[in-house]
Amino acid sequence: VPERSVETHARCETPVAGVAPATLATARLILRAPAGSDVARIVALAGNREVAHFLARVPHPYVAADARAWLAYLERARGCEIAFALDDGTGLIGVISFRALDETPEIGYWLGREYWGKGYMSEAAPVALAWLFGATATQAVAARASAVNTASHAVLSRAGFALAGSDAAGERDLTFRLDRAAFFRLHDDMNGTAADGAAQKATQR
Ligand SMILES: CC(C)(COP(=O)(O)OP(=O)(O)OC[C@H]1O[C@@H](n2cnc3c(N)ncnc32)[C@H](O)[C@@H]1OP(=O)(O)O)[C@@H](O)C(=O)NCCC(=O)NCCS
Repeated sequence: VPERSVETHARCETPVAGVAPATLATARLILRAPAGSDVARIVALAGNREVAHFLARVPHPYVAADARAWLAYLERARGCEIAFALDDGTGLIGVISFRALDETPEIGYWLGREYWGKGYMSEAAPVALAWLFGATATQAVAARASAVNTASHAVLSRAGFALAGSDAAGERDLTFRLDRAAFFRLHDDMNGTAADGAAQKATQR
């Protein structure tokens, strides 16, 4: 039985000060704070069983109250967790989030089913990661994916993540890790100013 609601309470000892939602741009997408006006799109897209399948925190079926609870949770979790809506100009097409901002942040993401296979997540994840490394002193980012989620493995490896091991909690969960230095070696065009430049580009639209 899926859990009916998202967290009500951010599990984070020391919220990171000054981590506020930014607006970033990639070639095809804007990354921005999710808003109340996204609820219908979130329900339609995250409500697809194929999308929810690998997402521990997305209940199925998914209703408007779940989306509103998630938005309210994000407000409470400021400094502990942050999420970006991926917007292709027609509205939200997916989400990238970072949780455990006070420890080793963990990235999570999804795209609406009709937006898979177009390179959107591989395009957006490095820009979100460059923002995180620029906005915080974090030295590494973690990720977790089912061993059979090869699409997610591809996104992670293109962003620079390396396999770190398998989670003791479930042998089908693989853990990945991306170090700050390794990220900027791979994405040498995304030095400290990349996120600022992208934000400026976004504001000019
Ligand atoms: C994980 C997930 C986001 C990956 O989506 P995706 O569409 O496969 O990932 P991308 O957006 O990076 O697309 C990559 C594919 O698009 C193709 N592509 C890349 N650039 C492209 C472009 N400009 N135009 C068209 N296609 C392109 C690539 O060939 C690539 O295919 P490949 O991996 O077979 O080589 C998606 O499967 C999903 O939302 N799954 C459900 C939720 C989930 O599992 N989340 C992760 C939990 S760990």
